[in-house]
Amino acid sequence: MKNYIKIDEWKIIEEGFHPEHNRITESLCSIGNGRLGQRGMFEENYSGDTLQGSYIAGVYFPDKTRVGWWKNGYPEYFAKVLNSVNWIGINIHINGTPLDLNNCSVRSFVRELNMLDGYLYRSFIAKLATGEKVKVETKRFLSITDDECGLLEYSITAMNFSGELVLVPYLDFDVVNEDSNYDQKFWEEIEKSTAQGEATIVAKTKKLDFVVGAAMKYNLFKDGEPIKMPALPTERKKYAGNIVMIPVVEGETITIQKFVGIVSSLNYPVTLINSKAMEASFRAQQKGFHQLLNEHSEAWHKKWEEIDIKIEGDSAAQQGIRFNIFQLHQTYTGADDRLNIGPKGFTGEKYGGSTYWDTEAYCIPFYLSTADESVSRNLLIYRYKHLGKAIENAQKLGFNGGAALYPMVTMNGEECHNEWEITFEEIHRNGAIAYAIYDYINYTGDQQYLAEYGLEVLIGIARFWAQRFHFSQAKNQYVMHGVTGPNEYENNVNNNWYTSYIAKWCLNYCAEMLEWLKNEDISRYKEILKKTFFDENVELKFWKELTSNIYFPFDEERGVFLQQDGFLDKELKPANALESSERPLNQKWSWDRILRSCFIKQADVLQGIYFFEDHFDSDTIKRNFDFYEPMTVHESSLSPCVHSILAAGLGYEEKAYDMYLRTSRLDLDDYNNDACDGLHITSMAGTWMSVVKGFGGMRVKDGLLNFKPMLPAKWLSYQFKIKFRGNSLSVKIEKNRITFESFGTEDIQVRINNQLIVLGAQAAKTVSFNNVPIIQ
Ligand code: BGC
Repeated sequence: MKNYIKIDEWKIIEEGFHPEHNRITESLCSIGNGRLGQRGMFEENYSGDTLQGSYIAGVYFPDKTRVGWWKNGYPEYFAKVLNSVNWIGINIHINGTPLDLNNCSVRSFVRELNMLDGYLYRSFIAKLATGEKVKVETKRFLSITDDECGLLEYSITAMNFSGELVLVPYLDFDVVNEDSNYDQKFWEEIEKSTAQGEATIVAKTKKLDFVVGAAMKYNLFKDGEPIKMPALPTERKKYAGNIVMIPVVEGETITIQKFVGIVSSLNYPVTLINSKAMEASFRAQQKGFHQLLNEHSEAWHKKWEEIDIKIEGDSAAQQGIRFNIFQLHQTYTGADDRLNIGPKGFTGEKYGGSTYWDTEAYCIPFYLSTADESVSRNLLIYRYKHLGKAIENAQKLGFNGGAALYPMVTMNGEECHNEWEITFEEIHRNGAIAYAIYDYINYTGDQQYLAEYGLEVLIGIARFWAQRFHFSQAKNQYVMHGVTGPNEYENNVNNNWYTSYIAKWCLNYCAEMLEWLKNEDISRYKEILKKTFFDENVELKFWKELTSNIYFPFDEERGVFLQQDGFLDKELKPANALESSERPLNQKWSWDRILRSCFIKQADVLQGIYFFEDHFDSDTIKRNFDFYEPMTVHESSLSPCVHSILAAGLGYEEKAYDMYLRTSRLDLDDYNNDACDGLHITSMAGTWMSVVKGFGGMRVKDGLLNFKPMLPAKWLSYQFKIKFRGNSLSVKIEKNRITFESFGTEDIQVRINNQLIVLGAQAAKTVSFNNVPIIQ
């Protein structure tokens, strides 16, 4: 755990340069606008440790699978989130010496992500080995009001010398992905051009032919006054820029504003890429840096009115939640239904691919409450569109009859993950996709979604499960072998309770929904049966027999569900018996030792209890939580939030708070020692859930919003906004009281600890909880 980031409610601040943590700060200072993403690296060349990363949503590279021992069923490729054109680059030479913070003495360094206004700021004073001292200030943003534009402003003051500054603003496609399997570069140049004050370059990916164009223009100022300086165009392979030589007198400040347009073949025909990129950079220059920044900031302010969670009395917690909400909204806006939310978003290369079960299990609940209903619907339709590929994927593994296995990791519906114990065995992801359909319908009431899309997906998934169980003569029950549950610190286990439980639920839910449609719209029902070749008499009958006779490992003595067969034979120890030098286990222990240990990476049995809490009484939840949580090392970012929500429900206030801090400050404090690879974007939705569903106890039951609020001891209050079935509601929780403000046009009923209240349209109401009367 690290604590070099300053606590501030609206900013992420690195004060003093920490080269040893540079990759972490670069991740933390990432900016994005849903279409483009940029790590917080420096504009000028830096020879120290850095992870270069400029990304374009939906542009990826299928890197040929490289494994030691090829297994049938492996996909041919692993999708890489592609490092794309470096658009921020401006190299600086001071009297002939390059400015490189790795070779200077650096003072007064500040790198600051301003979340309220949505930009990245940096300033420092550097003294070169040759004695020249400069002060530098930079600001950059990826516009959310014109999402093809990236802008930056770079000011440099000659503090103790007169002489010459050379500025080299450039665009560079000659970039690498650190995780490329064959040290290959992924971009090929198509065309470029340079002229005084501008450059453009168009490149395409070596596979799949994604074409990306970038164009830049710039303005120059001396002490704030516009200047014109001659420039030498500079070009090399995949690189285009300008060399600008500027004489300076001691004390003068030179400022360059760079206006970049970036577009791709996802949105334009290839023939227009060049001109569209140029148009975008021209648009940005015409508007000007400050005007576009003002518009961008205003748009962020508007967003914050809808998405903010305010916490009074705890600045670390406040900074944490805002950081999570900010990064999530920078990554995915819901504006383009071809896109999804990668575990690292646009902040690093790790995890390749874009879509994991994280989207359904963690992100959809967040978007259900904070965005228009169409956003979560689109995320579901994304999977609907991949149903054919999921059926092919299952066929490759030997399933048939329309059984669908959704990929563990995907860009376009094809599996692109290649570790057999995950690709073939971590099949619980199928369950999360079905659960998200249920979640969406439960929240929105949009049952029609089932008839239009959902049911076909449910049928494919249910068919997979029906084939994945087999009958054990010895047990006289159905069992499921060769599984990896959410806890990836166990592989290839038999009867993983969570997987079997969600599989059984999927089969029952699908059968129930088929019945619903049959009663509701018989012609659509028949259409779906025909389309899917579904044989009611055979399939439904078998599902019924199967689901009534599934084996679930259970320990009578402790009254807990067993994570898998044989779990109790392990040496059971709490995680707090581990030395801190042994954590995180995945970096300190051999894989073999991890697999044999009892330590749990993330919620597994507890993930099931979290999803299906209404199936269990509170004693059962408590017994399972008390048994599993102490053995959990929370080394997946997806873990603390689920535990925080369960702990809040059980009234374990301190645990809920600790887990909340851990999820919300996971990257800020680098709990798992891996923020250098990028941020944990998908788990950020879990952080939001731990406030709203955890402390707020928000659930939707029988079409009504329910709250079971609690206030962490350190907090004076917290406040969030949610959207629900055409209404928008602000909820503020203070000690023993909850205040609602409705922005909708109709009355809405909500339950607080089972007490039903009616909120008038456009009205506010305060209600006490914990049986404490309100004193006005
Ligand atoms: C977790 C998975 C998750 C993936 C991407 C892994 O560490 O174990 O559950 O899907 O990260 O976030």
